[in-house]
Amino acid sequence: MTQCVRIGIIGGGLMGREVASALSRWFVLDQYPTRAELVAVCDVAEPQRDWFRQVPGVKLVTADHRVLLESSEVDMVYVAVPHHLHEAIYLDVLRAGKDLFAEKPFGIDLRAARTVHEAARRSGRFVRCSSEFPFFPGAQRADQVARAGGLGKLLEIRSGFHHSSDLDPTKPANWKRQVPTCGEIGVMGDLGMHAVHIPFRLGWHPRRVYAQLQKIYHERPDGKGGRVSCDTWDNAMLYTDVVIDGAEVPMRLELKRLAPGETNSWFIEILGTDGGVKYSTKEPKTLWTFQRGKEQSWQRTELGFQGPFPTITGAIFEPGFPDCFLQMWAAFLAERAGILGDRFGCVTPEEAVRSHELFAAALQSHAEKRAVELD
Ligand SMILES: NC(=O)c1ccc[n+]([C@@H]2O[C@H](COP(=O)([O-])OP(=O)(O)OC[C@H]3O[C@@H](n4cnc5c(N)ncnc54)[C@H](O)[C@@H]3O)[C@@H](O)[C@H]2O)c1
Repeated sequence: MTQCVRIGIIGGGLMGREVASALSRWFVLDQYPTRAELVAVCDVAEPQRDWFRQVPGVKLVTADHRVLLESSEVDMVYVAVPHHLHEAIYLDVLRAGKDLFAEKPFGIDLRAARTVHEAARRSGRFVRCSSEFPFFPGAQRADQVARAGGLGKLLEIRSGFHHSSDLDPTKPANWKRQVPTCGEIGVMGDLGMHAVHIPFRLGWHPRRVYAQLQKIYHERPDGKGGRVSCDTWDNAMLYTDVVIDGAEVPMRLELKRLAPGETNSWFIEILGTDGGVKYSTKEPKTLWTFQRGKEQSWQRTELGFQGPFPTITGAIFEPGFPDCFLQMWAAFLAERAGILGDRFGCVTPEEAVRSHELFAAALQSHAEKRAVELD
């Protein structure tokens, strides 16, 4: 009989619902060896709890995450709550003896990330952190092109994630705009993990960072007729040096809440003297590869729908956010079951801590207006 993993969600907001969506169409995965079922949900807000009551299979809906963690019907837990709650709830999940799929940034700061990492190591539970964009077919191909080599001497790497809805000053603030709930690292905590996942997996770890951080709107509507101050970093440009094949290569990480015209644009570009590769979710099917022969050419390849885990979706169809999210979950559960093989895996606790080390150094760099060395 096919094994079934019973999943609980703590935090049923934007991302908790995305997980419900992914798990509800698990059958899209073709011949995937295990089933995955959402069985329990916790949220402190009644409207969120109410939404989950319509989701088939959900048996337990609670406002107290300890009730969910006590349930013997739950095998593993996904947590998507504001950043100041990550550490306490992640530690509770581990103490309850459950495996953990954590949301980024894996704690509000470096100290919290290190504490969770250490607890995860001691618990022996399977723990990974969310970052779905590398599971787009084009992102996978960019990773493979970089891995295959043959790009000549690497010239530069650019990896980033751009949003634009914050250009609108009338957009109300939420917990993501305030340091106590989002963290001092601001936009780096929101978008940074997405930008470093592939570079870190390729072994490209910044040696030093020079950061330019911007706060753009200092105040926003509070959604209740008043105004509230917004003190998190909105845009971050991290100019880093990585060592690849013995040479220092510039790697620029661009994390922006205010990037004109960009709606959730995740991208990576890797350029060398002989070859290169570019992919952006703005053109979700399209991979650009560079070749230097007698003439130089940028080739456009229409990839279609080819995630690491086969699906029933037509090969010529376009991939979107829910698809890469489902692929990420397939990778998580495959790795948990020991069957990931050589496929791309989710962010490890070590990588999450490394990202926090980079963001902490970026804060220092910006404050001191100098490049900061990383170990
Ligand atoms: N992977 C991605 O692409 C992605 C995208 C957006 C957000 N995120 C991350 O997901 C996490 C949540 O973000 P979101 O956008 O879903 O936020 P959200 O505000 O939409 O949802 C958070 C939910 O947590 C609930 N909550 C608060 N305290 C709680 C508690 N003590 N117990 C249970 N529930 C509680 C809130 O009521 C809310 O419904 C953050 O870590 C964020 O960085 C990831």
